Amino acid sequence: MITKQQVEAFGSIETPFYFYDMDLLRQTLDTYKAQIDKYGYNAHYALKANANDRILDTIRSYGLGADCVSGNEVKLAVRSGFDPQKVVFAGVGKSDKEIKAALRAGIFSFNCESVPEIKIINDLAAGMGKKARISIRVNPDIDAHTHKYISTGLKENKFGISPWAFQEVARLLSCCKNIEFLGLHFHVGSQITELPVFALLCRRIEELQKWFIEHEIPIRNLNLGGGLGINYQDPNGDPVAHFEDYFNIIHKHLVVRPGQNVHFEPGRALVGQCGHLISRVLYVKVGREKKFAILDAGMNDLIRPALYQAYHDIENLTSTGRKLRYDVVGPVCESSDCWGTRRMISACKRGDLFAIHSAGAYGQVMAMKYNQRDLAKAVYSDDLK
Ligand code: LLP
Repeated sequence: MITKQQVEAFGSIETPFYFYDMDLLRQTLDTYKAQIDKYGYNAHYALKANANDRILDTIRSYGLGADCVSGNEVKLAVRSGFDPQKVVFAGVGKSDKEIKAALRAGIFSFNCESVPEIKIINDLAAGMGKKARISIRVNPDIDAHTHKYISTGLKENKFGISPWAFQEVARLLSCCKNIEFLGLHFHVGSQITELPVFALLCRRIEELQKWFIEHEIPIRNLNLGGGLGINYQDPNGDPVAHFEDYFNIIHKHLVVRPGQNVHFEPGRALVGQCGHLISRVLYVKVGREKKFAILDAGMNDLIRPALYQAYHDIENLTSTGRKLRYDVVGPVCESSDCWGTRRMISACKRGDLFAIHSAGAYGQVMAMKYNQRDLAKAVYSDDLK
């Protein structure tokens, strides 16, 4: 919830900008940390969701590791003080340069997404006189019931290694001398709000790990990835993701053998609700059939509505008066630059401040300069106190 004092402080800041409620971030992390500590689980924050220095500092201070998907993310994580021993590195297309950088950094695990990748990591590690710790990212063929662009666990998706290739994986593991095998990795999609999906994942993990155990390949680690969704419909009423329900389900359904460690890679659920895109109304255009509220923030600042038809709650921060129906749009020359149609919002005028909520994850990191627009800056609640 953005406070009155914060709205007052926004008056002197150039819009659009990202506003981060650091108290909410800490509250979310407190809740998350209590849950993982309760079960003795390990967590690696998915940097791709938000990589701002201040956000990374805060998350690192809770003792989390980092989940990276590029060489530059690995470098950033290490530079930001994350313990390399807690850095995992996934992605279907790791380049030689990226693999070498990660080997040099001494990361905890490469999450390997294909059979040829295992071989290349082994060869590059051999060339550097090192041993690479790897996990196998398995494609479990599970429907995460989320938008198809952010579903990753179905057999038609490019991610992970399919069970039919396990024989080949086993052969490689036995002959690659510069590889140390840690276990299995999964990530079936993002913004998953149907919790039974995670129960299904746990049952599938048990089936899949049995294959390795039967073939006398020990599984020391199980990494369940990220994916827990947040409430985009009601961010003010439901600001902290439902970690307790999530971990309850996992604890109930995941078979953990003695000596095994369980890992997670949360992204959105940690940072999604603490970020808001703050914008000003430039014009109200009244047509015969509808009213447009035209904002100074566009799809280049936050691409989720244009890319995934994502819903973000929109609030007029300047007025709490009578609500009218608006199509809220941005200034970019694309019809998909639309924040929402037929939204009921307090009657607005030029200069009113609007908040586009739940913008902390996959917002600023995905921003671009399309139309040669400036990149929106970050403002942190701690600095307004
Ligand atoms: N682990 C892996 C291997 C991943 O690929 C991802 C996200 C995560 C963890 C973190 O997932 P999360 O907890 O945030 O759901 N740009 C899209 C989301 C893409 C997610 C990519 N992978 C969006 O704006 O919805």
